[in-house]
Amino acid sequence: MTALSGDVGAGSREQGASSQGDRPIIEMRKATRILPGTVPVTLVADIDLVIGRKEFVAITGPSGSGKSSLLYLLGLLDVPTTGEVLVEGRDTSHFDDDERAAVRLATLGFIFQFHFLLPEFTTTQNVMLPMRALGRLPLRQMKERAEGLLAALGLQDHLAKRPDQLSGGQRQRVAVARALANDPPVILADEPTGSLDSKSSEQVFGILRDLVDRDGRTVVAVTHAMELADRMDRRVHLVDGRIVSDERQLQPAQSRPG
Ligand SMILES: Nc1ncnc2c1ncn2[C@@H]1O[C@H](COP(=O)(O)OP(=O)(O)O)[C@@H](O)[C@H]1O
Ligand SMILES: [Mg+2]
Repeated sequence: MTALSGDVGAGSREQGASSQGDRPIIEMRKATRILPGTVPVTLVADIDLVIGRKEFVAITGPSGSGKSSLLYLLGLLDVPTTGEVLVEGRDTSHFDDDERAAVRLATLGFIFQFHFLLPEFTTTQNVMLPMRALGRLPLRQMKERAEGLLAALGLQDHLAKRPDQLSGGQRQRVAVARALANDPPVILADEPTGSLDSKSSEQVFGILRDLVDRDGRTVVAVTHAMELADRMDRRVHLVDGRIVSDERQLQPAQSRPG
């Protein structure tokens, strides 16, 4: 357990690893998403994708290639027109909105390019929101956990500030803390460093790396920054809504013993 992990009343990842074995954490089978209309728009087509535990996956591709669409399908924020999305082995095809929301809250954390923090709430209150929605902890423990997450991300001096009192990099770290609120095994990020300066971008990237290496989470991040994608462990490349390559990349740290 690191400072970014913690008990939120769910089973721990370590227990999960032995009981759930190598079962993929998210799996897409022949998923296609078509927006209906006079001229239907195909967002992604024929996606087969298996995402395992402790993976650090980059989704790359030109602008408009369907990266965000794919991430929203993986995150149950959108539903494929045909095909299936399985989360922890469960086929979500026939889930209603509430069932999808429940899986999202407990299993998936989201980070977007623009932080989407609530402007009238403090950083601590923003991080508590997903915990309140899940409702597994007493309020006092929610607050303690939120403060702990923020402190672990270097924001201990900003607990009572509102988003407009923070820098872009600080806001994005609050968004990371919020994504971790319910201790989800998976973080899905859409251009998480896309609006940050290079120093903040490096800091947020380092945090994502740690979520995989230290916490044993899975991180799937859309990025068009090749120098970041190259430093992730796997790269899924999209062109015109289809996966054209899916390659594992060995990182220097992984080739060292221990
Ligand atoms: N609501 C929408 N209506 C019409 N076209 C859309 C809509 N959302 C996305 N698209 C189109 O679908 C394609 C994929 O979009 P997106 O997943 O956002 O790509 P990316 O994230 O790779 O830039 C793009 O060509 C985009 O213009
Ligand atoms: Mg996008």
